[in-house]
Amino acid sequence: MLPIIFLIIFSGISALQGPKEKLVRILAFGDSLTEGMLDFRKLEPFYPYATVLQSLMKQLGDHVKVNHSGVSGERVNHSMRLRLQTELQRASTQGIWYDWVILLGGINDIGYGADNITVFEGLLHMYKTIHRYEGKVVAVTCMENAASLDSEGQLRRSEEHRRQLNVLIRQYCMKHGVGDEGALLLDLDKLIPYVSLETEEKRLEMFSDGLHLTKKGYNKLAQLAYDVLKPMITAEL
Ligand SMILES: *[C@@H]1O[C@H](CO)[C@@H](O)[C@H](O)[C@H]1NC(C)=O
Ligand SMILES: *[C@@H]1O[C@H](CO)[C@@H](O)[C@H](O)[C@H]1NC(C)=O
Ligand SMILES: *[C@@H]1O[C@H](CO)[C@@H](O)[C@H](O)[C@H]1NC(C)=O
Repeated sequence: MLPIIFLIIFSGISALQGPKEKLVRILAFGDSLTEGMLDFRKLEPFYPYATVLQSLMKQLGDHVKVNHSGVSGERVNHSMRLRLQTELQRASTQGIWYDWVILLGGINDIGYGADNITVFEGLLHMYKTIHRYEGKVVAVTCMENAASLDSEGQLRRSEEHRRQLNVLIRQYCMKHGVGDEGALLLDLDKLIPYVSLETEEKRLEMFSDGLHLTKKGYNKLAQLAYDVLKPMITAEL
């Protein structure tokens, strides 16, 4: 008797749930650009692009969940590496495994004078951490900023490091593809330019303080993240 009752109960439950759709989890991880800082000179509520990305993902249905975790001022080779590990570990103990992690970091290291190789090694370490937690990586290049305009001394060196770092990120994505060891490229360096915008007015539309984005800029970032992820997620569903 008992097994039959169980059978009826369990088949009843699964019939109620209908075909189960896979939940796709995305984590936006990084520094102030992920936390959503609008202008470092002003106290304004954060405007995380992940929230915009979550609304865009609704177009694919209700089974895509976007979370975010950004810490302003954070450097890859300092706390960010460890924080990623800690957060993915904690999430996994709650049964949360992210399918995709959008990793946007490195510009603060560059600002502090770190060179391409130091920062890239830190990023590579984080890519590996994400893979260890069964996630795929969206590798994001570091955007141009006010320091990318003609500048001298340390600023010029930083700009060189930023460009070289982006070369390393692109090469990594090309070499490894999107698979278990690779990363999907989101080339913000090219997609959200600063220098090639000809007027200060145009720059101020996208960049508030020469480094952080305006709401319009973050909306664009969210749209670009959506554009690279959409075909991947559609294929997975
Ligand atoms: C979202 O991220 C926060 C901070 O990392 C974490 O505490 C929380 O558990 C996450 N929630 C989900 C549903 O992933
Ligand atoms: C990178 O981080 C490691 C470990 O914290 C440290 O030993 C090393 O000096 C750092 N390198 C740079 C260039 O900051
Ligand atoms: C990274 O920096 C090193 C040392 O400054 C340099 O030799 C190398 O060419 C740089 N890498 C790229 C991809 O530019």
